[in-house]
Amino acid sequence: MKIAIPREQRPDEARVAASPETVKKLINLGFEVSVETGAGLGAAITDEAYEKAGATIAPDATVAFGDADVVAKVRRPLPDELKGVKSGALLVSIVDPFRAGDELGPLQKAGVTAFAMDLIPRITRAQSMDVLSSQSNLAGYKAVLDGAAVYGRAFPMMMTAAGTVPPAKVLVMGAGVAGLQAIATARRLGAIVSATDVRPAAKEQVESLGASFVAVEDEEFKQAETAGGYAKEMSPEYQKKQAELIAETIKKMDMVITTALIPGRPAPKLVSAEMVASMKPGSVVVDLAVETGGNCELSKPGEVVETGGVQIVGYVNVPGRLAADASALYARNILNFIELLVDKETKALAIDWEDQIVAETCIIRDGQVVHPALAPKDAAPPPAADSPAPEPAPGPSAEEAAPENGAAAEPEPESEPGPKPDGDKQGG
Ligand code: NAI
Repeated sequence: MKIAIPREQRPDEARVAASPETVKKLINLGFEVSVETGAGLGAAITDEAYEKAGATIAPDATVAFGDADVVAKVRRPLPDELKGVKSGALLVSIVDPFRAGDELGPLQKAGVTAFAMDLIPRITRAQSMDVLSSQSNLAGYKAVLDGAAVYGRAFPMMMTAAGTVPPAKVLVMGAGVAGLQAIATARRLGAIVSATDVRPAAKEQVESLGASFVAVEDEEFKQAETAGGYAKEMSPEYQKKQAELIAETIKKMDMVITTALIPGRPAPKLVSAEMVASMKPGSVVVDLAVETGGNCELSKPGEVVETGGVQIVGYVNVPGRLAADASALYARNILNFIELLVDKETKALAIDWEDQIVAETCIIRDGQVVHPALAPKDAAPPPAADSPAPEPAPGPSAEEAAPENGAAAEPEPESEPGPKPDGDKQGG
């Protein structure tokens, strides 16, 4: 068996799909590993490090692909990127299939079998393969640092001889994996943090991190979670009530970090231009949902926009801004998934197509689209950024849907120096 690790071609992508650690493990599984030269440089991994781990360095992608049985990548290949890949090879990457548009065509033409790591079901057995969690966790952390970098004030309360610096007030909107890590990070920096979400389960998680929970807790809110643990799109009535509450809350905030997503749908618009106008000059909004339409009406992909003294940060591919850690975690997600496709005795590919993880991630098999959510329009409408999505695939049991507690499961952080205005229940 041979696996190829090409260099990522998208200009904003510094991550890589294998690390020296996973190269060694892939070799133990029975693979020959071919890495394109320079593939790891954006993540601080040299060709020598891969070679030392047992990989062969290929001068370009075509040579790396050679007769590879598996190609592991970070992002969906660009139309020309798969040149030289043999028909029937397995492609494992983040595909973002509902926003792929014409870019799925070349994958079909290449005759590959494509697995979308971003469709890994949220079941206990698949947690070690869950790229959305591993990458969102880092994005939540980095969002706070990105916000802090443009914020002209300090986060923690500081009592000095020259006077007291008040602590920053931070609101985190969306308390999934990224949001929980943003809460934990802002708390570590000394901010007073509150958070909002439409899923009732989020309340306890937010409070366990020492943040206060802000939400309209009506009957609709009590039902607002799918079996898969994701948020449902809320009714216009709920959205109006939520907007009123958020409008009152946002006025008092120094920083708002938005992470709210609904799988397969555009991100909900939570922060209007009017709300931004109500914020104090010097405040900051960080919109982590900017690539799926944005939670803030004024955010722009890849830009920091300033309006009325408020800065709105809209960086794209935020996990890629921490490429070394993001690659290390992504590479382990990929390794754990590939292990599922290999017979450890015979050291050969042996795919169980009935396995839930395989079935729910396989989008193209031997050049044919096989995922039900991507079926042609007359069968079931494929969800695009601006069209309705299907319900997420049949969900896990209540036990399996339990949050993996991203931030909450972390060890107790070192205590902050200086006064703690609102206690530190971090790590609960
Ligand atoms: P996500 O990235 O799809 O969305 C982020 C957050 O935005 C979610 O908490 C969602 O409820 C919230 N949201 C959506 N619309 C909103 C609105 N109008 N206002 C405020 N917030 C809104 O979610 P993520 O981070 O992927 O997590 C979804 C769930 O899956 C969570 O319960 C998480 O704990 C759980 N999970 C379970 C795993 C497992 O293996 N069992 C692994 C990872 C996450």
